[in-house]
Amino acid sequence: MLELKGLTFAYGAVKAVNQVDLFVEKGSIHGLIGPNGAGKSTCIELISGNRKPTAGMIVYDGQDITAKSISWRRHAGISRSFQRISVFDGLTVADQLELAARAVGESDLDTIVAELDLGNTLTEHCEAVSYGEQRRVDIALALLGEPPLVLLDEPAAGLSRDESLQLADHLAHLAEERGTTVLIVEHHLEVVFRICSRLSVLEQGSVIADGVPEEVRREPRVMEAYLGRAA
Ligand SMILES: Nc1ncnc2c1ncn2[C@@H]1O[C@H](COP(=O)(O)OP(=O)(O)OP(=O)(O)O)[C@@H](O)[C@H]1O
Ligand SMILES: [Mg+2]
Repeated sequence: MLELKGLTFAYGAVKAVNQVDLFVEKGSIHGLIGPNGAGKSTCIELISGNRKPTAGMIVYDGQDITAKSISWRRHAGISRSFQRISVFDGLTVADQLELAARAVGESDLDTIVAELDLGNTLTEHCEAVSYGEQRRVDIALALLGEPPLVLLDEPAAGLSRDESLQLADHLAHLAEERGTTVLIVEHHLEVVFRICSRLSVLEQGSVIADGVPEEVRREPRVMEAYLGRAA
């Protein structure tokens, strides 16, 4: 579904992403993990088209999309979550979701609302819902229109352990039901190990491990990267 080949990006002298190779299989939930500053968000921005790589190639569904614009990628079905609900003042959650659903031709908003347990929030104004509910609205917006590939950058940031795990389960269920491929950056490792079928670990811009979660978990370099962060 998605392949990164030698993907590289530098902010001035800082090589945030350095020769990254990554293969995301169709229908999988692929975790992108690593310590702070590893280059995870920059990778997401390169894939969504918000930044242009210094070198390397992005292949999506068999096509080289490295030079394509953000809107081209969005139309081709690459969706990403938003950090916060971007709304016009005074819209209810229902208005926001319905507007967005209409814009992308989503026919099954009810299922998404039910799965993400947003039924009680529909008549609330977007600004008034809880933080956890906002995160779930973010996920709903990213999934509208059945995009084949969804990019999520820390969807569970700021949530409690229980909320994170619950969000992860809803996400995994929806993704499976709709055959959505997901690339997810997440710091809650419990979430990652629970829902991801493949993992890539970044450290200082480079992939230091890659594979099924059980394998990656046992890699000494991964342990070091995480212990280094905790120390
Ligand atoms: N706008 C920017 N200008 C300059 N340097 C940046 C910018 N954004 C990120 N960086 C640097 O690029 C590197 C990678 O940052 P990035 O945000 O991609 O990491 P990350 O893995 O998402 O980290 P985190 O887990 O903290 O979100 C870091 O060294 C960071 O300081
Ligand atoms: Mg980040």
